[in-house]
Amino acid sequence: MTMTPTIDTDKVRSQMLDWYDRHGRDLPWRAKGNTKPDPYHVWLSEVMCQQTTIPAVIPYFLKFISKWPTIHDLAAAEQEDVMHEWAGLGYYARARNLHKCAKLVSYELNGRFPQSAKELQKLPGIGEYTAAAIAAIVYDEPAPVIDGNVERVAARLYAFEGALPAAKTELKHIARKLYEGNDIRPGDLAQAHMDLGAMICTPTSPKCPLCPVQSQCHGYETGIAPELPKKEAKKAKPRRYGHFYWITNDDGAILFERRDEHRMMGGMLALPTTDWDLRKETCDLPLASVQKLSGNCVVKHSFTHFDLELQGYRAEFTPEDPRFVWVDSDSLEALGLPSLFKKAVKLMI
Ligand code: ADE
Repeated sequence: MTMTPTIDTDKVRSQMLDWYDRHGRDLPWRAKGNTKPDPYHVWLSEVMCQQTTIPAVIPYFLKFISKWPTIHDLAAAEQEDVMHEWAGLGYYARARNLHKCAKLVSYELNGRFPQSAKELQKLPGIGEYTAAAIAAIVYDEPAPVIDGNVERVAARLYAFEGALPAAKTELKHIARKLYEGNDIRPGDLAQAHMDLGAMICTPTSPKCPLCPVQSQCHGYETGIAPELPKKEAKKAKPRRYGHFYWITNDDGAILFERRDEHRMMGGMLALPTTDWDLRKETCDLPLASVQKLSGNCVVKHSFTHFDLELQGYRAEFTPEDPRFVWVDSDSLEALGLPSLFKKAVKLMI
């Protein structure tokens, strides 16, 4: 354990809240004035925000709430439609859990989310962070809401020099101090941290001169804030290889396959491929006239735990299984393909 300096956390919290009142972002799921935040909106936004940045989430959020204005509407939606609207956000298991959670809350809990972080965490797809965020923002529970932004703010305030990921638990422990004993506007405090981390205490080139808690920041005082939190050198990701198949019929339509629920991107439409998640180099389908595509017909895509390279092949195949669909080349845009397959289609068209 490294020695952590003492910080006047009450002061930090009041400075953060003052700053949030003046500069906090206007986001479509945030309640304005004296209105109460909508649990459905907060839950949906928090699940989406785990995938990508706020500017990228906003159009997805607005589309979801316009298509499914209540949790009951989302619960009643076809899973396929939910996956389709999610496409582009990535990590499809989250979308499946989102739908599962909507069904559970709608059908078994009368549309009402549980009101504590502990109970929220029992729902599908709601982990420690999301449960704390919903409990704090919607129900004013003083739960410690600790995401990457808050960890960065804490590392800098306390000039914490441990390197991630090894020092993650210690840093979380330090970040928790920023919330300890706090019962004044817990939801706003959490969102103030998130906004500060996104707007001022940014990963690179933090805007320290504009920071409301600069006077309390040991990282600023010692001049090391921009280097924090420290990170261990990244290990190279393993690389996997496979094939994708471009199969067309006499009308020029292209063959897509709905991926098995248990594979990566389960439930999504995709070009047929070898099973790279099982590291198979051959295809199980009875394809005919398989021909390697010349030129640089290789799609590269990076997943969390590995990089993937798929070589394109042309092939012939007449499917009988309903999981295969022929798609007109004019309708490809509307398919909501995962990014990997969008890249493959772009290579081919
Ligand atoms: N990131 C995740 N949830 C957020 C929120 N409610 N406000 C700002 N940034 C966020």
